[in-house]
Amino acid sequence: MIKKGIILAGGKGTRMSPLTKAVNKQLLPIHDKPLIFYPLSILMLAKIKNILIIVNKGQLNQYKKILPNGKNLGIEINYLEQDKPRGLPDAFVVGEKFIGKDNVAMILGDNFFYGQNLTSQLLNYTKLKKGAKVVLHRVQKPESFGVAKINKKNKIMSIKEKPKKFLSDLAITGLYFFDYNVVKYAKKLKPSKRGEVEIVDLLNFYRIKNQLSAEIIGRGGAWLDTGSIEDFYKTSAFVSAIENRQGLKVACLEEIAFNYKWIGKKEINNAINFYGQCNYSNYLKKL
Ligand code: TTP
Repeated sequence: MIKKGIILAGGKGTRMSPLTKAVNKQLLPIHDKPLIFYPLSILMLAKIKNILIIVNKGQLNQYKKILPNGKNLGIEINYLEQDKPRGLPDAFVVGEKFIGKDNVAMILGDNFFYGQNLTSQLLNYTKLKKGAKVVLHRVQKPESFGVAKINKKNKIMSIKEKPKKFLSDLAITGLYFFDYNVVKYAKKLKPSKRGEVEIVDLLNFYRIKNQLSAEIIGRGGAWLDTGSIEDFYKTSAFVSAIENRQGLKVACLEEIAFNYKWIGKKEINNAINFYGQCNYSNYLKKL
């Protein structure tokens, strides 16, 4: 079982400037909570309790105000700074000590997942022992994503970043599971033409060894990327629609921790005091 997870929550946020000039993208609101709650909720649902959040240099204090050390959620949150956005695989170089000899999950700080059976799927993915696993989702415009072509056994045959010629309509989402060799491979990568180390190159180390498998989130599930303003508001509207309809919150961290019995009534009351008079607190009161 994978017990460690990394959230990559730095980045330039160029596409969302000027919103991202003073505040990191992952701290901006998706409906009623900061974006970072959503990827963190995914790791928590997967019962990953040892978490490293990688943030931009100079932005640590902002994050710690809302997510201090994890104790309030019955988990452990560690932070490290990335001095500049060198690319997604840089997470494993920055996080080398945290990973040690353990397998690890990684989720991008701006990725949103939702759907029926998601928790049981996640718990299945964490069973990975050797190799690497990516999560795929069908998209209408594969040319804008990293995509993967798979065979009948869900083994990945080829992967390509933003293919001009059609290869597959299965996009590689921002949720990955790796064995500890990932650190060794990440260190070997050279920056691409755009000056970043690329996740596709990292995945290729595993693919060449026939160790890269895929999981598909079917049409009952949603994967939304929140990189552009347009997508950001669409995701917000999606969460708002679901929450208003059901009266249940998406990515309420205390609720997940409470349901897993990682925290009790005391911590819920502390959270209510911490957040103050707001809808989120009212929701916690009902738990
Ligand atoms: P991107 O969407 O590639 O980059 P970005 O968020 O900086 O936005 P833009 O393209 O508009 O400049 O990054 C995906 C996620 O990974 C995002 O949450 C930021 C994070 N990230 C890092 O923390 N470090 C990095 O080196 C990179 C490339 C991304």
